Amino acid sequence: MLQIHGISKVYKTGMFGRGALRAVDDVSFEVRPGEVVSLIGESGSGKSTIGKMILRLTPVTDGSIAYDGSDIALVKGRALRGYYRSVQGVFQDPFSSYNPIFKADRVLSMVKAEYFPGVSTADWRRKIEESLHAVSLNPPDVLGKYPHQLSGGQLQRLLIARALLLDIKILVADEVISMLDASTRIDVLNLLGDLKKQGLGILLITHDLALGNYISDSAVILRHGRIVERGATAKVFDDPRHPYTQALLASVPRLDEKWSDSAPPGREAFDADDAVGPLVQVGTDHFVAGAA
Ligand SMILES: Nc1ncnc2c1ncn2[C@@H]1O[C@H](COP(=O)(O)OP(=O)(O)OP(=O)(O)O)[C@@H](O)[C@H]1O
Ligand SMILES: [Mg+2]
Repeated sequence: MLQIHGISKVYKTGMFGRGALRAVDDVSFEVRPGEVVSLIGESGSGKSTIGKMILRLTPVTDGSIAYDGSDIALVKGRALRGYYRSVQGVFQDPFSSYNPIFKADRVLSMVKAEYFPGVSTADWRRKIEESLHAVSLNPPDVLGKYPHQLSGGQLQRLLIARALLLDIKILVADEVISMLDASTRIDVLNLLGDLKKQGLGILLITHDLALGNYISDSAVILRHGRIVERGATAKVFDDPRHPYTQALLASVPRLDEKWSDSAPPGREAFDADDAVGPLVQVGTDHFVAGAA
């Protein structure tokens, strides 16, 4: 289980690093095996920063992250490899995860070199083909190609395939669905559903409320780096208590209504109430900032 305890991130900003930006502020939640948690918030709310801290790509400024009871900041050497064996991420910008001078499938062959040196070439090939099929990629379409010869969606699915090869326990998926076209999206959503059934814990980072509602067991609503509301997805979506969550939900266009019938709330709805105090429990598995 992944436990996030009151983490914050302060970035140094400005030309001489004298400024400070509190991108994440006192965030706590958990991801259990077989559970999908969606981390929802608008652009700049700190979602990717939280994902990066979980993957140790950037240190936490305050608070701690524990995996199976151990603080990940203290994990070193072999144990760190073990951590990455269990926890992997697929990031928003898939191009940044590839080195343009190497073929894209190097991300898969490196898994063998690092974690499965004893597996025979034939067995490894079979494993790769299985994992590519699982993410709806046709092996000849992607193997042997350079990153610039593949689409963003293909590169992203290659990274999910890489995570599958490792048989991970927790996947941090940062905007992985939003980049895909409708038919591939269904395939990848179904794949995530299957993996969840097999016990994978998934942190799904998204700005897409409908997606968060569709797939997740728990939802964490983030605003300006702070949690405004969190809890069981059904509670947060059916009975939103914070004005910000309410405004967000009201702004989702309804496909069964004509645009003119349901004018979405304007920007001011989002700024109307800035009550972001400590989280207060308002029901079973339902917490709201400032108990609005
Ligand atoms: N390395 C960095 N140095 C300084 N500031 C950063 C850095 N990375 C992110 N930020 C800032 O931290 C804030 C949160 O960024 P983050 O990428 O976590 O947002 P996000 O919720 O993932 O947004 P999006 O939906 O646009 O991906 C933003 O204001 C961003 O400009
Ligand atoms: Mg992001």
